[in-house]
Amino acid sequence: MRFEGQSVVVTGAASGLGRAVSQRLSSEGARVFGVDLNEAGLAETKEIVTAAGGTMSFGIADISDRMSAHGVVANAMDEFGQLNVLVNCAGVLRAGRVTDFTEADYDLVFNVNVRGTFWMCQAAIPHILDSRGNIVNVASNAGLMGQAFTAVYASSKAAVVNLTRSLAMEYVKEKVRINAVAPGGIQTPMAQSSEFPEDIDWELIKPYMGYRNMSKPEEIAAVIAFVASPEARAMHGSIVSADCGLTAG
Ligand SMILES: NC(=O)c1ccc[n+]([C@@H]2O[C@H](COP(=O)([O-])OP(=O)(O)OC[C@H]3O[C@@H](n4cnc5c(N)ncnc54)[C@H](O)[C@@H]3O)[C@@H](O)[C@H]2O)c1
Repeated sequence: MRFEGQSVVVTGAASGLGRAVSQRLSSEGARVFGVDLNEAGLAETKEIVTAAGGTMSFGIADISDRMSAHGVVANAMDEFGQLNVLVNCAGVLRAGRVTDFTEADYDLVFNVNVRGTFWMCQAAIPHILDSRGNIVNVASNAGLMGQAFTAVYASSKAAVVNLTRSLAMEYVKEKVRINAVAPGGIQTPMAQSSEFPEDIDWELIKPYMGYRNMSKPEEIAAVIAFVASPEARAMHGSIVSADCGLTAG
């Protein structure tokens, strides 16, 4: 019960990792405020959380829009009166050859993964300072290595890595913690629905397929819960790889 009495905001809570994080943190006593574009998915997560005895509310918002991100954090504050932890799980992946990539897909990936993470941090930081809480961003192994056919996604996750470190430096004298977890492949709708062109050189994808199975969402949620908990007091500005060895060599 490491989050007893705490309020947390989880973006991307309608699906995959965000749902697993909502389940995990609520099972350890947190009141969860889920944020996503997908109302039906949020309602399903809330059903799962409450059926297990947890407390969850949610807000529908496009986090890439600054006003929406600030609005949904204000809603979470109205609901719970405090904010101890922000977990930024929302993200999108688009795969494809650099030469085929559309402007719309480029903008979508950067808008959600970078702008969205930034606006949510901006909106949450004053409350996190008040509660002496912490932020966990979700990067990726893709932010730590070059990846063929996902250049835009990988660049956006590298931006999340350095955003996390830069925020950590800006607040290094305050009693808050700002970290990121960088998962490898996770068995979620994102991984299951990612579409690569069929005629690419699959050999080039091997380095980021790795040698082990993909993680289950709850395995990465356990790492995030640790980083968000007081047990990880020594971590600030850390990029915690949880990728079954993908970036080890
Ligand atoms: N699945 C993987 O293999 C993998 C690997 C490494 C990192 N990640 C990262 O983990 C995080 C969670 O991904 P997932 O695998 O659970 O994917 P997912 O597609 O299952 O969930 C992502 C959620 O983000 C939400 N979202 C998208 N755009 C949004 C927006 N503008 N505003 C609010 N919500 C929005 C979606 O509606 C969805 O519910 C992402 O940041 C992803 O990049 C995933």
